Amino acid sequence: MINKITDSLDKLPAIHKKDLERNLCTCNEVPKIDIIKAIANGAKTLDEIKEQTYASDGIGCCSRKIEQLINYIHFPDRVDNETLNTSPNKRVANERLQRLEKQLKGNNRPNQHVLNQWIRRYGDDAKVIIDKYTE
Ligand code: FES
Repeated sequence: MINKITDSLDKLPAIHKKDLERNLCTCNEVPKIDIIKAIANGAKTLDEIKEQTYASDGIGCCSRKIEQLINYIHFPDRVDNETLNTSPNKRVANERLQRLEKQLKGNNRPNQHVLNQWIRRYGDDAKVIIDKYTE
């Protein structure tokens, strides 16, 4: 069980790994980690998530976020299509953030001034990535 959750978390981009204890479904007060656990245990559709956790069983405002998590964990090939449907600015930002993460992963750490610029420009999305790879 713990391995399934760890494996699933490994498949998520850094931005989706933060605030795991915070409610992803605020209508039904379901924390993100409970949804990830359901996905890790095999839930592959929104209905299965709904059945197991009640998430998205309100007005459905969290449906898209849940579907993103399902895709990252079970259907990574769909993630690219999803990316194509996001706004050009967001897509560019995502690509740059992915490059930053790759750079940090490879221990090619930019200096603090540059990292601060990333945070100023991309906010929490960059901060999460930088915090993950720096101390
Ligand atoms: S936040 Fe989940 S149904 Fe509204």
